[in-house]
Amino acid sequence: MPDRLDLPPGFRWGAATAAYQIEGAVDEDGRGPSVWDTFAARPGAVRDGHTGATACDHYHRYPEDVALMKDLGLDGYRFSLSWPRVLPTGAGAVNPAGLAFYDRLVDALLEAGITPLPTLFHWDLPQALEDHGGWLNRDTAYRFADYATVMADRLGDRIPTWITLNEPFVHTVFGYALGTHAPGHTLMFEALPAAHHQLLAHGLAASLLHDRGLEVMLSNNLTPVEPASPSAEDAAAARAYDALHNRLFTDPVLLGRYPDLSALGVPDDIFGAIRPGDVDLIHAPGLDGLGVNFYNPTRVAAPSDPDLPFDLVAIPDVPHTAFGWPVVPDALRQLLLGLRDVYGTALPPITITENGCSVEESTDPDQPRIDYLAAHLDAVAQAVAEGVDIRGYYTWSLLDNYEWAEGYHQRFGLVHVDFATQRRTPKASYAWYRDLIAAHKARHAKQGLVTPL
Ligand code: BGC
Ligand code: BGC
Repeated sequence: MPDRLDLPPGFRWGAATAAYQIEGAVDEDGRGPSVWDTFAARPGAVRDGHTGATACDHYHRYPEDVALMKDLGLDGYRFSLSWPRVLPTGAGAVNPAGLAFYDRLVDALLEAGITPLPTLFHWDLPQALEDHGGWLNRDTAYRFADYATVMADRLGDRIPTWITLNEPFVHTVFGYALGTHAPGHTLMFEALPAAHHQLLAHGLAASLLHDRGLEVMLSNNLTPVEPASPSAEDAAAARAYDALHNRLFTDPVLLGRYPDLSALGVPDDIFGAIRPGDVDLIHAPGLDGLGVNFYNPTRVAAPSDPDLPFDLVAIPDVPHTAFGWPVVPDALRQLLLGLRDVYGTALPPITITENGCSVEESTDPDQPRIDYLAAHLDAVAQAVAEGVDIRGYYTWSLLDNYEWAEGYHQRFGLVHVDFATQRRTPKASYAWYRDLIAAHKARHAKQGLVTPL
C-alpha cells in the first residue's frame, strides 16, 4: 500500500490559518469591526466569552511565525486576508495600513521561500456589510468582487494562486441557519440565499482574478455521507444531506447547475435568490483547483422529527478527537475517489487546504495529532495512487488559535501558544511534520526527480 512518502515529487507541503483566528489587533491601524467582533461580544455566544481581540497576536508577531514555517520546511502557507482590515466599512475607502500589513507578510514569506496562498474570505465579514444584510444581501457579492480586485491589484504581482472563499457550507449553516457562528442568524433553510450570494461572489471574483492572470481555487468543507442503514429512508436522508453539505457548494462551480434541494423543502430558485444568468457567472470562470477541507465523515439517518429532512447520528466504534469528531482516515480516500467519480473531467486538480485535529493541551507529546496526520496523509497517497490528481496538503493549523465558538479551547496547532504570554512552543507534531517533509524531499532528490536546494 502506498504511503505518505510515496506522494509525488513536487507535492506541496503547507499549513493553514485564518485572519480572525490568529491576527488579533482588531482595533489597530484603522481596521473596521467584523461580524466576529460583534458576535464574540454577545453574552453566551462563545465559550467563556473569548474573543479574537488578541488571538495569537500574529499581526505583530508574524516574523516569528514565518520563521517557524521556514524551519518546518513549508512550501506554502495558506492564510486569510481580513476584509475589514483592508476595507474597514467593506466598501469605499481602502485602509493603506491594512494593505501594508499584507505586503509585509507576503514579502516575509517570499523571503523565507514560502509561497503565499491567500483566502479572501474566511468568515470575518465587515460589520458594516452585515448591517445591510450581509450575505443575505445580493449586493455583498459585488462588494466582494471589488475587494478581490483591490487585493489582486496590490499582491497579484507576488501571489500566483488565490482562494476566494473558505467553506461557504459552514459559514452558511453555522452563521445563518443555526446561529452558532457569526453573524448568528437562525434562519434554518431560509439561510440558503446566503450560500447563493457567496457562490456568486466567488464567480464574480474568479473572473476578475483570471483577467489578471491569476489562478483561482475555492475551499469547500467536504464530507463523505454514509446512510446509517441500507433502508431506503436512510439512503434518501443521506442523499438530502449530501446535496446540502457537498453538492450545493461544488456542483454550481464545476457542473454549472445546482443540485436538487427539493427534499429539503428548498425551491429551485433558492427562495428567489437565483436570477437568470447567475449560475453561468458562477460556472463560466472555471476553477484552477478545488480546495478540500476534510475533518470527518458524516452518518445520516431518516429524520426522527418529521419537520427535518435528516438526522445526523454518531459513528460507532471509532476514536474521536478532543473536539468529539470521529477519526476515519479512509473516509478521506473515499471522498477523494468520490469527487473523481462524480465530477470526472470537470474536476480540477485538488489541494487539501485543511486537515487536522484538536488535541487536549495536557496531551504532551501530541501523539493523537501525529497519528491523525499520518493516517490522513496515507489516505491522500492512496487516492493519488488510485489516480486522483492531488497537488498539496495544508494542515490545519500552524498555531493553536481562536477556534470560533469554542474560543481558545480546541487546540489544532503544530505549535503550542500560551495565550497569556504569546509564547510559541513547537509540539511533537511540529517535529514530526518537519521530518516528514524533509524525508519526502530527500527521497525524491535521491531519485533525481527534483533538484535539491
Ligand atoms: C467540521 C465538521 C464538523 C463541524 C462541527 C466543521 O468545521 O468540518 O466536520 O462536524 O465543524 O463543529
Ligand atoms: C475552518 C477553520 C476551523 C477548523 C476547525 C474549518 O471548518 O475553516 O477555521 O478552525 O475547521 O474547526
